[in-house]
Amino acid sequence: MAANDNRHVITVADRAAMAATAAEHLLAITAANSGRVAICLTGGSSPKQLYQLLATDAYRSRIPWQRVHWFIGDERFVPADDPLNNMGMARSLFLDRFAPAANIHPIPTATADPADPDRGAALYEQELQSFYGADTLDEARPLFDLVLMGIGPDGHTASLFPDDPALGETSRWVVGVPKANVEPFVPRVTLTLPALTSCHEMLFEISGRDKRAILTRLFAGENLPANRARSTGETVWLVDRAAIPENFGGQ
Ligand code: 6PG
Repeated sequence: MAANDNRHVITVADRAAMAATAAEHLLAITAANSGRVAICLTGGSSPKQLYQLLATDAYRSRIPWQRVHWFIGDERFVPADDPLNNMGMARSLFLDRFAPAANIHPIPTATADPADPDRGAALYEQELQSFYGADTLDEARPLFDLVLMGIGPDGHTASLFPDDPALGETSRWVVGVPKANVEPFVPRVTLTLPALTSCHEMLFEISGRDKRAILTRLFAGENLPANRARSTGETVWLVDRAAIPENFGGQ
């Protein structure tokens, strides 16, 4: 599937402005589709404020909950109620209060065997393919309306780590990751680039001073996972002022 080279970098003042901008993107993407909407969420700390915002009256009243389905781009092998569980965080911050249970699609790491992360991955791939109605992705019909992403200090995104074979996957939609590059050092399950990039919009949230070093490398064009994750539609990087490298001249 051909990825799109267009990437728009939008600078926002701070985390609060980032959450508000991301929420507006989510609402616009949802409004653009009058049928069933598929949103792939992300873990990490960056989306927390967005998830909290979506639970407020001003936003939750604008989400057509009955027709929006929520997926997750990667998951750690931790219990479902562990604060480090990515979907668990989204559930506790907003989903469990408003989304129909059948519209929430967690990766089954809480019940699958951490010694065999590919098994959990295969189960989630089946779930995605059954939702999509085919086991081959059609560029004219993206899997997701919106994919949220974050960037780790080593340039990883989802649980696609630099130099990991998962990064080069071209056919499977979901794979097991036996060893993580960053904390928590537990096995993971991650969607692959073919699945993640099959979307109308891929929206990254990148905030905080400690993201400057990796952003400098990414803007210089290093071949890192976050630079390889480009939607077949639009790719947007929301970056707050604290994260913007000093010599950033715009992209
Ligand atoms: C994960 C995430 C991961 C995350 C980045 C950024 O499960 O670890 O999906 O890809 O998005 O590491 O994390 P922060 O938002 O905490 O900086």
